[in-house]
Amino acid sequence: MAGKWVRMVTAQTPTNIAVIKYWGKRDEALILPVNDSISVTLDPAHLCTTTTVAVSPSFDQDRMWLNGKEISLAGGRFQSCLREIRSRACDVEDEEKGIKIAKKEWENLHLHIASYNNFPTAAGLASSAAGFACLVFALAKLMNAKEDQSQLSAIARQGSGSACRSLYGGFVKWIMGNDEDGRDSLAVQLADEKHWDDLVIIIAVVSSRQKETSSTSGMRETVETSLLLKHRAKEIVPKRIVQMEEAIKNRDFASFAQLTCTDSNQFHAVCLDTSPPIFYMNDTSHRIISVVEKWNRSEGVPQVAYTFDAGPNAVMIARDRKAASLLLQRLLFHFPPNADTDLNSYIIGDKSILQDAGIQKKEDVDALPPPSNIKDDIPSHKFRGDVSYFICTRPGRGPVLLSDKSQALLNPETGLPK
Ligand code: DP6
Repeated sequence: MAGKWVRMVTAQTPTNIAVIKYWGKRDEALILPVNDSISVTLDPAHLCTTTTVAVSPSFDQDRMWLNGKEISLAGGRFQSCLREIRSRACDVEDEEKGIKIAKKEWENLHLHIASYNNFPTAAGLASSAAGFACLVFALAKLMNAKEDQSQLSAIARQGSGSACRSLYGGFVKWIMGNDEDGRDSLAVQLADEKHWDDLVIIIAVVSSRQKETSSTSGMRETVETSLLLKHRAKEIVPKRIVQMEEAIKNRDFASFAQLTCTDSNQFHAVCLDTSPPIFYMNDTSHRIISVVEKWNRSEGVPQVAYTFDAGPNAVMIARDRKAASLLLQRLLFHFPPNADTDLNSYIIGDKSILQDAGIQKKEDVDALPPPSNIKDDIPSHKFRGDVSYFICTRPGRGPVLLSDKSQALLNPETGLPK
């Protein structure tokens, strides 16, 4: 096995947004949740992690680079994922390169890992979900592990809970499971991304100066102090999960939207019920909720659902393209870009929604009329600069291998970042 060969695999994995939230663990080390959760996978074209994993007899330790910067792999979560996946490694034979790795050799071989997010990490969008899912998926391919996606999801779960839901595209359920060892706490796909392809997703990345409480410590404090969480996990979520599965199956947008908004609001209520209370949403988040609620009410049937994770960013799911373009007009009316921000960097992702909304240039934003449901006696305030930018996207596919060698993040000769 001596020699200077390097074997590499590159994968791309999406991020996901929960519509029924995971909040609270019953086991901190294994990352076992107190309730089931359901998510929508986001299109990797706009939000994803790309990871290259490499193995070589010339590597003398496990190393990892995130967005070009070397980071430590010493943390328990990385170590759990690496240990779990190594224990499932199988024989690998690459005839083309003349490489043969026997199952038992994997425990002595070191890995290099390079990971890159196609969205700003500072934006507070779930980067750990896509990151751990991609790490586990890529390593499983490198090591020829025979596990299926659900079994891999149970490994990714040990990196970050929400990561287990990024092993599938479309609509995904994380089943909390009962076993103490966590083997039945895994993700399953409810429907793929084509099942409900009318949906359009608009994310408002909200400007924030506040340092947020991490999900991990926030949920620990909630478990320790909130009675509302106990009620939520025991009485509310089990029923909501059934209703949400039904809404997704029937593409029933009215129920889907009602359940999504209510569950997001209950998650934030549970944060407020924590001692000391945790605030993730800010004034801008609340204003966005008002805009959507008012519009939904004036239309009589819901046009848009909103949901917020552990931060102020709003994820809005519109029933179709028409609703999405009307939503974008409303959002741009209330939250126009700063003078020094151009439209092209203010709306990113699938820009065709902007065309549908009839907005080609920044002047078109200033010319937008006040949304029609605003009565004359209510001032239609503008909050310029309170949103950093918007991302237009849609439900997307699960992890894929990238066979194009030019997309690898590590040099095929040295195994070091390119
Ligand atoms: C609010 O998965 O980030 O996004 O398991 O401690 O890594 P750890 O937490 P994490 O929590 C995500 C919480 C959430 C809701 C959700 O994604 O379901």
